[in-house]
Amino acid sequence: MVIAIDGPAGAGKSTVARGVADALGFTYLDSGAMYRSLALAALRAGLDLDDGEELGRAARGLEFGFDRTTVRLGGEDVSEAIREPQVTAAASRVSVHPPVRDAMVALQRELIDNGRYVAEGRDIGTVVSPRASLKVFLTASEAERARRRAAESGEAVEAVLAAQRERDDRDRRREHGALRPAPEAVELDTTGLAIDDVVARVVELARDQGAA
Ligand code: DC
Repeated sequence: MVIAIDGPAGAGKSTVARGVADALGFTYLDSGAMYRSLALAALRAGLDLDDGEELGRAARGLEFGFDRTTVRLGGEDVSEAIREPQVTAAASRVSVHPPVRDAMVALQRELIDNGRYVAEGRDIGTVVSPRASLKVFLTASEAERARRRAAESGEAVEAVLAAQRERDDRDRRREHGALRPAPEAVELDTTGLAIDDVVARVVELARDQGAA
């Protein structure tokens, strides 16, 4: 049983997905954390971010560990390190390569096939779980998304906005697993909405569609 929540950076996916998972007693899967972890490992190892084959091999060798609040890589808590701006930019670069996506999608399917998951990312409803019981595509205005990220990270809004544009553009244009709504996805614009209201709406949709 999967509830898929996709959308661009800063649309509120993580907060909403966590809230929905808590409300329904599902497990939360942050697929972006997996691409971020690979980016961190690649930067540390000095790998070429344009070498898809090498990055694919690295992705297949990663040992992930997730719980509700922590992301582990080979036992190390990398929850904070993977949110650094240079890792964020590198995550968008490593995620364009088909060998990387194949490895990540296979891992994600293995996880979500065995439980009740709220999974968030860019391609959950389109590629990872096309038969998800509910697909939600979260959006928000570009300015609001940048404001939210800046408030979280303490960076300047202008810097966040520039990096966000570059990342969204790359995520949308890539050939494999591009950021786009699945045809049957429910689109929710979270601009100006309180997170609790968005969570309540998704929970209601999940119940209406027999997903919970
Ligand atoms: O959701 P996030 O900001 O943590 O994602 C970081 C990067 O990972 C994002 O720029 C694109 C990539 N990503 C992806 O390609 N597919 C996913 N399902 C999730 C994230």
